[in-house]
Amino acid sequence: MLTASVITMAFTPMTYRFSMEESGYEDIPVNDSLDIAKGAKLAQNTCVHCHRGDDGRLSGRLYNKTEPQFGKIYASNITQSRTQGIGNWTREELELLLRTGVKPNGKTALPFMPRFPLMSSEDMEYLIDFLQSDNFLVQPSENALPQTELSLIGTLGKWLFPKKLLMPEMPVPSPDTTSEYEYGKYLVDAVLHCFACHSGSLPRINFQNPEMTPNYLLGGSKFKNLDGQKIEAPSIVTKQNTGINDYTLDDFKTLLQYGQKPDGTYVQYPMMPYPSLTEKEIAVIYIYLNTYKP
Ligand code: HEC
Ligand code: HEC
Repeated sequence: MLTASVITMAFTPMTYRFSMEESGYEDIPVNDSLDIAKGAKLAQNTCVHCHRGDDGRLSGRLYNKTEPQFGKIYASNITQSRTQGIGNWTREELELLLRTGVKPNGKTALPFMPRFPLMSSEDMEYLIDFLQSDNFLVQPSENALPQTELSLIGTLGKWLFPKKLLMPEMPVPSPDTTSEYEYGKYLVDAVLHCFACHSGSLPRINFQNPEMTPNYLLGGSKFKNLDGQKIEAPSIVTKQNTGINDYTLDDFKTLLQYGQKPDGTYVQYPMMPYPSLTEKEIAVIYIYLNTYKP
């Protein structure tokens, strides 16, 4: 399978910058229980593009190939390996890391690992069920990654990042899925983290209060595409703004599922496809972005 995809990538036209392989969309195994399948879907949308290694599992990789100015940052091996991965972590330890960034040894994960303080307790349970399952993606991989080395800029980035988050004292309620606005906001802010890239400041991403991130959803953050060229994340607040005013719901769906813009070109890395989002999820995201008033 890997060989096949290498070949596909080699023959993919230059304009096609969207790697479905990267998104890891292809394998939600059918024999998983529903909870694990729900967790697998969350992981496919939120973890796989950073953590997927060469063996196809979440065995880790050099995360910042396109941004080498930060040093060499490795997204960890998060398979069930007890030596290289997170096979010894308890559910509580996983939740603490995912919500606050605090590791079992008390150290704080680098800011390049996102935080999920607003994820509902229900979704968090599904995600952890998946991480501890025998799904192919998390089966033990002994892939040993080199030590992360931060450059001066990387170290600066680490110190600029806001302080530690706290564990919520109460379970985090699930969003009201009958409210399109609330449900869309939950996906954009708490799970898919669209706001993290589509606002104005990467060092000042506010995972706890996303709307406090400078220029929330109005774009401006800078990235490099796979050719090393600078690109900017556009505003995605529709209607009132410059961002994606012309997008119909169908356009938006094609963009999110396949990465293709209305003009036929493809969005570039680091924007990833979300092939496993349902029609309903895409629709509520669209409605939220259409309704939100900056
Ligand atoms: C933008 C890239 C990115 C995304 C998305 C991402 N991670 Fe990470 N993750 C990292 C990096 C980089 C590290 C290493 C942090 C460090 O060295 O302190 C990491 C570390 C971790 C660790 C700590 C492992 C250890 O041994 O210390 C866990 C657990 C983890 N990630 C799980 C997840 C899960 C689950 C998701 C999805 C919900 C996810 N990550 C999404 C980049 C990412
Ligand atoms: C890792 C950062 C990142 C994340 C996460 C992200 N985006 Fe993007 N997105 C970008 C960048 C960068 C571009 C510009 C790509 C280009 O110029 O081709 C982009 C482009 C887009 C576009 C195309 C706009 C246009 O100009 O036609 C839309 C729409 C979009 N993103 C919506 C979303 C939504 C909705 C989410 C969450 C489900 C999301 N993005 C998550 C970085 C990201």
